[in-house]
Amino acid sequence: MSLTQSLASDVVLTDHVSHASVRSAYSAEANAVLSMTQAEAALAEISAWPGYQPTSLRELDKLAEHTGCSGVWYKDESERFGLGSFKALGGAYAVLCLVAQEYQRHNGESISLGDIRNGDYQTFTSKMMVTTATDGNHGRSVAWGAANAGCRCRIYIHRDVSDGRKKAMEAFGAEVIRIDGDYDDSVRLCAEESAENHWFVVSDTSYEGYMDVPRNVMAGYTVMAGEILEQQQTPFTHVFIQAGVGGLAAAVCSRLWMQSGVNRPRFIIVESQHADCWLNSVKAGRPETVAIDVETVMAGLSCGEVSALAWQVMQGCLDDVVTLADTEVAAAMKLFANGDMGGGNIEAGECAVPGALALMAICKDKDLQAKFDIDADSQVLLFGCEGATDETVYRALLDSVQGRG
Ligand SMILES: Cc1ncc(COP(=O)(O)O)c(C=O)c1O
Repeated sequence: MSLTQSLASDVVLTDHVSHASVRSAYSAEANAVLSMTQAEAALAEISAWPGYQPTSLRELDKLAEHTGCSGVWYKDESERFGLGSFKALGGAYAVLCLVAQEYQRHNGESISLGDIRNGDYQTFTSKMMVTTATDGNHGRSVAWGAANAGCRCRIYIHRDVSDGRKKAMEAFGAEVIRIDGDYDDSVRLCAEESAENHWFVVSDTSYEGYMDVPRNVMAGYTVMAGEILEQQQTPFTHVFIQAGVGGLAAAVCSRLWMQSGVNRPRFIIVESQHADCWLNSVKAGRPETVAIDVETVMAGLSCGEVSALAWQVMQGCLDDVVTLADTEVAAAMKLFANGDMGGGNIEAGECAVPGALALMAICKDKDLQAKFDIDADSQVLLFGCEGATDETVYRALLDSVQGRG
């Protein structure tokens, strides 16, 4: 049996729920979180960064043929700014916005993000310490943004964050503190030490009283969707978007929803079964926290709590949530690497494959396929949100598939 056949026969959704949003124009609630003005400002700034290139939108023709869809498209974020994930867009942009805000607060003068990047405010920025707790990718973006803005940077990681990811943050000059606890412990310590020392937390999740920074993180992510709208004129019918706290999902869906209003695609969140806070929140009809008892191999999705801002956006446009087991993740990565999904040989990291897995799981079950309204006319958009962000982990996962297929 080929690897594609064996994966297709094994992959299943562990759970799913429909949210049944009514199709509407972009809502006032969502607009209060992310507006076209914010998305355009993020695109204007980020597209001026050295090395900026829109990442490829690849056509996965083999996956389309396998699932019987008209087209399957894959936004390949392995290429993003040499950082290997879409996260490069968010944290780094939010650091610059934060510096500009602080400068204005102190000096009553508004300054441009470009001038901050050029080092014109070095005396001011070198006194600012930015911090975050991270699984890896967000911290790398914050460390990069701090280096670009000339700020100091301190990153908190938990015991399971890989050494490769730690070193990548240190390479941007960040001080990385590894704690002997889990992600939540690292968040707590980061918050405590930052409050004591008047440091600035740049988090990718939002909660009551902490909205400005994560809003800018999400504004940075909208750049990806803006690029897609330039790259692809055929409207998408379905978007599968993986979620941790949901900042990525809300950013992408909001930008696509702004564009197409009532004709927007169906938005389907994909989660790990081990971190299913969106599934549980939709079932409960309000944000619910879940305990992370098992760390999913899709490290970036290992979040137990939805972001408040993301929840506000997704209330008006989320259609479904599906959850997956970890079991087929490595096999899917291998199919991408071998070119068996189509679109060439693609470096797809752990968090890049859940959309493809969910689509395959749905299309092997006629009832599910009908329920999700996927047929020969479907144009499906997937997000390859990371490449080999840790080369050792990536290789080990590909090697674990040896012997199958
Ligand atoms: C590669 C990757 N994909 C997806 C996500 C999920 O993003 P969010 O937490 O905004 O839902 C993350 C989060 O860290 C990530 O690193």
